[in-house]
Amino acid sequence: MNPVNVGICGLGTVGGGTFNVLKRNADTIRQRVGRDVRITRVAARQANPACDLTGVELTNDIMDIARADDVDIVVELIGGYDAAFELVKEAVSNGKHVVTANKALIAVHGNELFALAKEKGVTIAFEAGVAGGIPIIKALREGLTANQVESLAGIINGTGNFIMTEMAEKGRAFNDVLAEAQALGYAEADPTFDVEGIDAAHKLTILASIAFGIPLHFKKVYTEGISQISQEDVQFADELGYAIKHLGVARRAEEGVEMRVHPTLIPNKRLLANVNGVLNAVQVQGDAVGPTMYYGPGAGSEPTASAVIADIIDIARQIDSGFSVPPLGVAEPDETVRVLDIEEVESAYYLRMNVADQVGTMAAVAQIMRDNEINIEAIIQKEPKEGHNMVTLVMLTKAVKEKRLNSALAQLGDMPQVMEGVTRIRVELLEG
Ligand code: HSE
Repeated sequence: MNPVNVGICGLGTVGGGTFNVLKRNADTIRQRVGRDVRITRVAARQANPACDLTGVELTNDIMDIARADDVDIVVELIGGYDAAFELVKEAVSNGKHVVTANKALIAVHGNELFALAKEKGVTIAFEAGVAGGIPIIKALREGLTANQVESLAGIINGTGNFIMTEMAEKGRAFNDVLAEAQALGYAEADPTFDVEGIDAAHKLTILASIAFGIPLHFKKVYTEGISQISQEDVQFADELGYAIKHLGVARRAEEGVEMRVHPTLIPNKRLLANVNGVLNAVQVQGDAVGPTMYYGPGAGSEPTASAVIADIIDIARQIDSGFSVPPLGVAEPDETVRVLDIEEVESAYYLRMNVADQVGTMAAVAQIMRDNEINIEAIIQKEPKEGHNMVTLVMLTKAVKEKRLNSALAQLGDMPQVMEGVTRIRVELLEG
């Protein structure tokens, strides 16, 4: 049988890993596909010293790959929105299949790209876009396809989890850990995508679409980053028996679906609270299967290459049959499902505030909670530091609609005894 020809665009962290693993495991891949899968062309701004390009055509124009006759599958590993969008449109228009690790591209332009791919009879595959080496797209779209997905919750940004873990375990400073994540090749080109939750929101958009059979709704994801999380909060959370993780949550509710990314307290006894370092994990609750969990490396060269190559192999196996699974797992995404506003979401909360150490402060705080029908679950107050007339008050609430919590926060903010505002972090109690 003829070989399947692959053109790779981008030879950075993931591109270099993909190139090397495809070459190293060529015999195994041939056995699995039933034909050779070979790299014919690479587009890169500069050669990667870790990759031996002997016998491969090297260009610095990505569009050469999208137009070449000797490329069946275009592998897009350049990242970003615009150039990647043009490249994929061109490749698909030329009848080429596409494999991408670009979650931003899929989250923002996926609806349009999938429609074009359907028209042209080609596949766009994106396993590597979510949770690095974990085959979560395949698990959710194919392995769990019998289920109504009730909820999913995931640690889906390796850089963010690396930062939260180092802060919690070693008391390291935020910027110092971020610099290390960048050096290790985990972070996005713009690291604010990692720490402000944009990367996780891209990934959650994709997971939620597959879970609920809805179009990609990136703009409707509520997104909050981890850059405001302090050592103090990490330590108070620990004292209360919780870890703080940057979580993506998608949940089916009566009135619609929730899609949100934010720092979250998780009880220490839960599996997700113990996912550390650059590791990712996604917990999926299906109506038939119950709770399931997918765990592994969320970033890095060869872990992400593992997912890219799985997609290449999938397409190579199907290339002559014309068969492929719909990208979001449904024939037509349901446009009628509403994405809930964050104020409609119900959650428990961790609150921390610095208050004046004077008679009646606690009573006034408690009165505001009572007026807003917010049930206090736990409370910590320590003696003031010597020479200070201010104490830190930390509380956990029971679940309440965010709208009601916001009304309490506004009233607390107006209290003269409450200084510097109130820190609010959501709490997920989770099963499993
Ligand atoms: N910057 C991403 C992360 C890379 O840290 O998870 C993998 O998507």
